[in-house]
Amino acid sequence: MAKTITIFFSIKGQTLSSDMKIVEQEKGNTAIAAEFIHNAVGGELFEIETARVYSKDHMTIINEAKQELEAGTRVEVKKYPENLEEYDTIFLGYPNWWNTMPMVMFTFLEHYDWSGKRIIPFCTNEGSGLGESVRDIKKIVKGADVKDGISLTGSQVKNMEDKILAWAKEQLQVTANE
Ligand SMILES: Cc1cc2nc3c(=O)[nH]c(=O)nc-3n(C[C@H](O)[C@H](O)[C@H](O)COP(=O)(O)O)c2cc1C
Repeated sequence: MAKTITIFFSIKGQTLSSDMKIVEQEKGNTAIAAEFIHNAVGGELFEIETARVYSKDHMTIINEAKQELEAGTRVEVKKYPENLEEYDTIFLGYPNWWNTMPMVMFTFLEHYDWSGKRIIPFCTNEGSGLGESVRDIKKIVKGADVKDGISLTGSQVKNMEDKILAWAKEQLQVTANE
């Protein structure tokens, strides 16, 4: 029996609307998608949180993230899930930041041995798709089977429950048949 965990990082408080305006939003887009996926596939749900506190101001986060990316900063993870070795299928969610995943995802992925695991990325964004994120994931998780993943338009996620549920269930089906 496959054991599944959905792991995600998401910014709370503010996000971009489809017309690129800053809107208040209690739950981040990736968090909403992660909950839909978790509802579809069961298992565990784990939120990656950063030890550093990002600004509540969207434009400031944009700049902070750019500096982190340019410096290759390994942003500290507040807490890691216990017993990750028990899981063989990992749905991995993050927003697209500057055309890849946020630096905290690099820190998180570098913490574990992923060999033999199946990683299914989902990336929310406002137009850049998955960017270079899957390439960057593959560089880190040697020995894992990294799937193509899905790009979700962040501002639309809340209206996409049915589509996301169907996609997530299909991923489990495909992997079960391999
Ligand atoms: C620091 C930062 C950088 C971003 N860079 C991009 C980008 O390069 N391409 C893109 O399409 N969207 C970009 N976005 C938009 C987010 O990917 C999008 O709003 C996402 O759904 C936010 O997810 P969250 O609410 O879970 O944090 C960026 C947002 C932030 C905060």
